[in-house]
Formats: sequence, structure tokens, C-alpha cells
Amino acid sequence: MTAPIPAHIIKQHLIDPEICIRCNTCEEACPVDAITHDSNNYVVNVDICQSCQACIMPCPTGAIDNWRQVMSDRAYTLEEQFGWNELPDAQEFSEAQAASAATLPASSLASVDGDADGDLDGVASTSAGASIPPWSAAHPYLNLYTHKNPVKATVVGNYRVTDDDTESDIRHIVLDFGDQPFPVLEGQSIAIFPPGVDGAGRPYHARQYSIASPRDGERPSYNNLSLTVKRVTTDYDGKPVLGAASNYLCDLKKNDTVQVIGPFGSTFLMPDHEDANLIMICTGTGSAPMRAMTERCRRRLKTQAFKGRLMLFFGARTERELPYFGPLMSLPKDFIDINLALSRSAATPKRYVQDLIRERAGDVMTLLESSKTCIYVCGLKGMEVGVIDALREVVSQHGKQWADVHEELRTQGRLHFETY
Ligand code: A2P
Repeated sequence: MTAPIPAHIIKQHLIDPEICIRCNTCEEACPVDAITHDSNNYVVNVDICQSCQACIMPCPTGAIDNWRQVMSDRAYTLEEQFGWNELPDAQEFSEAQAASAATLPASSLASVDGDADGDLDGVASTSAGASIPPWSAAHPYLNLYTHKNPVKATVVGNYRVTDDDTESDIRHIVLDFGDQPFPVLEGQSIAIFPPGVDGAGRPYHARQYSIASPRDGERPSYNNLSLTVKRVTTDYDGKPVLGAASNYLCDLKKNDTVQVIGPFGSTFLMPDHEDANLIMICTGTGSAPMRAMTERCRRRLKTQAFKGRLMLFFGARTERELPYFGPLMSLPKDFIDINLALSRSAATPKRYVQDLIRERAGDVMTLLESSKTCIYVCGLKGMEVGVIDALREVVSQHGKQWADVHEELRTQGRLHFETY
């Protein structure tokens, strides 16, 4: 029997609940499932975290990059962290305490218990997407405005982009920043604070939305941007629930103001070389970044600065519930190859985006074989597995190994997911 190791100072990894926008990126990035969440907070399990830092870079806000020195036998529990509205103050340690033990990462707790070897070799990230942008992506501005200094934007438009008599109320909301700098790139997101408090009396967290307009503005050379927001009226189980943030945004009127933080996102960015190809795969409001990228290419086409190919797979219940259906269908066929997957249309059999990827296998493979092609997937979480499976089939039908192609796409920053 080994003697117990005396308590010592550890560096505990924590998430700042004030800044966190609950985007789930850290939970997805953690290779050892140390990060979890409840309806209030995202938290780190000190018994599992190995301080590998895989979650640090992908976090859009920096909320993830917080560390506290604590005694190993008094590390913050999950229950404590779930209840926080802000991080606890840093603890003071006497010189003697500090001198008696070196500061160790939190994972040393697990080693004390003998249930982790601390060896990170062979731990692969579970994320299917790349953690770097394509080589030619423009450099993004990040976190110019935080929860401590949000910027006020004015609503200059709020238009429904699905048919009025359908269940899906999806809005195109245009925000103007006036003279305040808010530089963005296609694929980035912002977050908005809904006013008011939740059932427990806490102010609502900021909610994240992808930007639907290109870098030079919804209206070219205006300091504005657009969002695609769906009014949430049910929870995941179909029970009636009014989403606080989405209903607030969908009800905004012209000249209302909103509190914005961001911009966020340093990897889901489009290539800037003129002959790059984009395969865009989305469902519903996941079309926002695809609209931004498509419009960027359309504007560049006018000055012969875009020579690539665009292929879009877009899933919606029906044509009438597909946001931006009219403007999308009026884009020239030789500019963008549009594939609509309708799941509840009376006129056509049920289709998901992954079905259409299979149907267009030959053309998808032609694009995949080019190192100039980047793939973007945005929308429902459930489609992630389906899309990967479809791409695997396409690749293997053409005599290649998905593992090899996938690795190349990831290491070259050419495959990106944003799902929710
Ligand atoms: P479904 O009719 O089965 O719900 P929503 O309107 O809810 O935002 O969904 C957008 C589209 O995504 C709908 O056509 C929906 O089909 C479809 N969808 C739902 N689950 C998946 C999935 N796992 N993979 C791909 N598409 C999906």
C-alpha cells in the first residue's frame, strides 16, 4: 500500500461564466471529456482535465483560459462551478505553502489517485474539423468587444426570409455599428445579450450568431452586418418554449439597439485566393456563413477576382421554409451549383444534405481532389456524422481512403464544422 500524497498546490482549469457564450466548442474540443455543462455553466472536471490545452485555441471568447491555484484537496467541484455567476477570487497562499510544493497541473490530482498516467501520447482530438484556417484566409479581428465593454448596434432591418404561413419564422436582421469599428470576416460570429433575467433571476448569457453578410458589409461599404435568426418556439423534445434570445431578436424593430460582443472565430474562414473552390453544406440558419461567403465571391466576381467553383448543399423542410430561397435561386447556375435537400416537401421524396452529397459523388470527388477546395458544414449537430459518412463513401467509391483525405483536409485547414 502506498502512503497518501499530502495535499499540494495545483493549477485548476476553470471557465469564466461571465464571458462564456455557451457555444459548446470547448466540450467538443476536449479529447478526454473533462468539460461538461448544465443549463447554467460550462465547467471543467478537475479529476479528468490533463491541462492539454486542446480547448484553449478554439474558444471564441477566451473564457476557457482561466486558471486558479488551489490546494489539491480543495479543488472546485463540478457542483460549485455549476452554481457560479463569476469566477472566485484567486486564493492567497503563504510563502511556506508555496515553497513546500511546486505548482502542478490539475491532472496531478488524477495521478495522485492513480487513475491516470498523465501520458497524452496518442490522444487524438475527437473533432472532425480543422483547428486552423485555410492558408490564404485573411486575418480576423477577435474579441474587440467583451461582456465588460459591449458595443451598441442599431437595427436597420428585420425581414422574414421564409414564407409567412410556414412554421419556420426565420429572420434576416441587419445591424449597423455607425462610427464604431466592427471589422468582420465571412464565417465569424458575434454574440448578443438579450435583456432581462432567466428563471433564477440571473442576467441572460450572450447568444452567438453567425454573420450572414460579407466583410464589406450587408450593404457594400456600410459599417453593418446581417444575421439569420430562427424564432425558437419549442425545445429539443418539441415542448412549447419561447427562446429568450431568438424571440427578442426576431421581434426587434427598426432603430432598436442591441448589445453586441465579438467578433469571434479564427478558423471557419474562407480562403482568399481567387481560384479556391468552396463546398458548402448547411441546414436552416446554418446558411448564414454560406450566404456571407457566397456573396463575397459574387462581389469579387464583378472584378474578375473570383475564379473558383461553388457547390452548395442546403437542407430545409420545404422550399417555403428554406431561408433566402428566392435570392438563392436567382444566382447564375454557372456561378454556384445549388443542391436543395427537402425533407418535408409534398412534391419530392425526403432528402437530407448527405443524400445529395452521395447523389453528386462524382462532382464532389472532382472538387475534393483539388487542394484548392475547402469544405464548410454549418447547421444541425445531427448532420455532422451523416456528412462525414457521405464524404467517406464518396472517397472510397473513388478508390481512396477517407482517413488519408480527412487528415489532409484537417491539417490544411480545409474542412470546417459549426454545428449546434
Ligand atoms: P427534418 O424534416 O427531418 O426535421 P430545421 O428546419 O429543423 O432547422 O431543419 C432543417 C433541415 O435539416 C430539415 O430538413 C431537417 O429535416 C434536416 N435535418 C434534421 N436532422 C438532420 C440530420 N441528422 N442530418 C441532416 N439533416 C437533418
